[in-house]
Amino acid sequence: MTSMSFIRKNSNARILIKESGMMAFKLLKLIKNPLKIINLIKLEYLEFRCNTNKRIDSQTKIYKELGLQRDKSIKHLNVILKQLGLNKYDEDYGMYSEHLIIFAGIALEKKNIDSVLEIGTYDAISTTILSALFENSKIYTIDLKNNDPIYKQTYSREDSEIRNRFNIARDKIIASRNNIEFIQMNSLAIMQTTLRKKKFDLIWIDGAHGYPFVCSDIMNSIALAHQSTIIMCDDIWESVDKSDQIYKSIASWETLNCLKYAELIDLYFFLKRVGKIHLNNKKFIAYFKLKDLSTI
Ligand SMILES: C[S@@+](CC[C@H](N)C(=O)[O-])C[C@H]1O[C@@H](n2cnc3c(N)ncnc32)[C@H](O)[C@@H]1O
Repeated sequence: MTSMSFIRKNSNARILIKESGMMAFKLLKLIKNPLKIINLIKLEYLEFRCNTNKRIDSQTKIYKELGLQRDKSIKHLNVILKQLGLNKYDEDYGMYSEHLIIFAGIALEKKNIDSVLEIGTYDAISTTILSALFENSKIYTIDLKNNDPIYKQTYSREDSEIRNRFNIARDKIIASRNNIEFIQMNSLAIMQTTLRKKKFDLIWIDGAHGYPFVCSDIMNSIALAHQSTIIMCDDIWESVDKSDQIYKSIASWETLNCLKYAELIDLYFFLKRVGKIHLNNKKFIAYFKLKDLSTI
């Protein structure tokens, strides 16, 4: 055996030992946590029943039904993200999810978007993307006041120093765009402000996700919509183990389905993320329009 092949054989053996060791460690960790094993099996079963490609196909079909094109929208979104100096689209990166692709699709295909309302500004990244996709539109974005107790206690903003830095970064991003109007108030108040006189072309509901907030946001959005307004709503669960007012509940699922069964809206659900790892925490994004009831 040459010294070269001896070294290679030896290092291959070392890699094999290391990998087996790591696998044994992972297995041990799994055995200690039976719930994780059940979840993994569930994930594989769900993926087997409907694999990622099939999920992307069904997602693409919804785009088509709505006159949008998913592949083209992803390309357009990436052009915009690059322009803004943001990361390329990847559903596993930060707050990125299918809503951005849908926004890009709307920007490409629907030319009548002059005013956009976003409920839930957070770090203003989505607001910035909206402002670039719809550069000739006015983007109104609403979030709670900096000193609102809910604002201070949610989304990892408890620490005042971290919160201040977060607020400064958000305000800087907003100031860098000339078509954003940032309104700090509780979205429950929308219909008591001058906003009530407006009709928006696109509305993105992404504030508090539980009762009674999101129901109020949905009903107010309907009041602020005209016949061709596109209303989208984030983070929709069909069922949850434990619900709360801010992050997780079935409030939007129930409210939107009630409106659908009362034949008041045309409703579509997109998967928020199509990847296999999201099958155990399936969330949707709603896309809806008002039905024409003007003859009643
Ligand atoms: C999920 S984040 C928004 C994310 C952002 N729209 C995006 O697409 O990346 C929700 C935001 O809604 C705000 N929010 C929660 N309840 C609200 C309310 N009642 N009125 C206005 N904003 C609210 C929170 O402070 C938080 O910043």
